[in-house]
Amino acid sequence: MKKLFVVAAIGCLTMLTFSWGGCDSNTETPAPVDETKKSENGNPSYDPHRGEGKFTKVEVGASLDAAMAETGNKVFGVKCSSCHKLTEEKLVGPGWKGVTARHSPEWIMNFMTNTDAMIDKDPKVQAQLEICLVRMPNQNLTDADARALYEFQRKNDGVK
Ligand code: HEC
Repeated sequence: MKKLFVVAAIGCLTMLTFSWGGCDSNTETPAPVDETKKSENGNPSYDPHRGEGKFTKVEVGASLDAAMAETGNKVFGVKCSSCHKLTEEKLVGPGWKGVTARHSPEWIMNFMTNTDAMIDKDPKVQAQLEICLVRMPNQNLTDADARALYEFQRKNDGVK
């Protein structure tokens, strides 16, 4: 009888540990999805490659625009560095290393300028939100600042 109790206690502890697994565990069971309506995020009108916002085609040079990247670096220091590192390490939000490989330029530009709508709709952002537990606030960027930030992210990802 005593032995049974110990086994049950260990079982409970294990379950607790898993459900308190912290920042990067997802213990919620997703609601059942109607397969006939399913797209990547269950919203057929949303384009997960481009995101949602005014940018449909972002012109990106083969090599880096160093002046633009420098402007982006300055904006980063003022508006983004409190939550984002330039490495892969998460701070409040995900680290920026590799961000230009994770998303298309249009997606990133739309996310930076239309943050709220994309947090609500984008499957990749929703996955991040579950990890970070913080909604990225809208940063009120001008189009030029957003583009400069993208150039800075390219520089951070090794574009020369
Ligand atoms: C208050 C914290 C905070 C600030 C400030 C912030 N972000 Fe974020 N950012 C986040 C969080 C958190 C996420 C993950 C998505 C979510 O949970 O909303 C994110 C996600 C991102 C992503 C997607 C990253 C990926 O790997 O998918 C980009 C790009 C981004 N932010 C750009 C910016 C830019 C540009 C700025 C500055 C102009 C900025 N962020 C300022 C918190 C912040």
